[in-house]
Amino acid sequence: METAVAEACDGKLTGCNPPTVLNAGDSTWLMWDGRADRLWNQALLPLLNPVEMNSNASLLLARLSAEYEEEYRAIFGKLPSEETDDNQLLAHFGKAIAAYERALSTATTLRSTRTSSASCRRWRSARRRRTRPTWD
Ligand code: HEM
Repeated sequence: METAVAEACDGKLTGCNPPTVLNAGDSTWLMWDGRADRLWNQALLPLLNPVEMNSNASLLLARLSAEYEEEYRAIFGKLPSEETDDNQLLAHFGKAIAAYERALSTATTLRSTRTSSASCRRWRSARRRRTRPTWD
């Protein structure tokens, strides 16, 4: 059945319509009511929300250990199982998701080496002038 809200665990429905993740890295405030102000921190909300992913630090540890152990060590310098603090594990997870989300920028797909906000400004300005963006 098609609904205006997102369907998640066991057919449960979230309270509202999910905004696009595209360009989320450019937003100052996230979620409809603006309750998240950091991308890495917002990424923990769906993970821990019982209606969405219904997860927790132990489940996250098991999943990261089974599937992303080497990638985790390459980025954060230790295995997920070597983290001594659940909050650190969660924060690292959030930062990895946030890095991925920043790559989902409609502007940086034009030129991936630019920061998305600078790219956005150039792209919007070029569009107004009906020219191609210029990159210095
Ligand atoms: C790693 C997985 C996920 C990521 C990275 C993610 C990312 C995001 C982001 C960035 C926003 C805020 C967008 C904005 O304010 O412009 C958002 C909102 C939302 N997402 Fe997700 N999401 C994830 C998983 C899910 C799942 C599994 C569901 C439900 C099935 C879901 C449902 C929603 C809903 C309903 C909102 C709006 C919530 C509100 O404003 O109260 N998300 N998500």
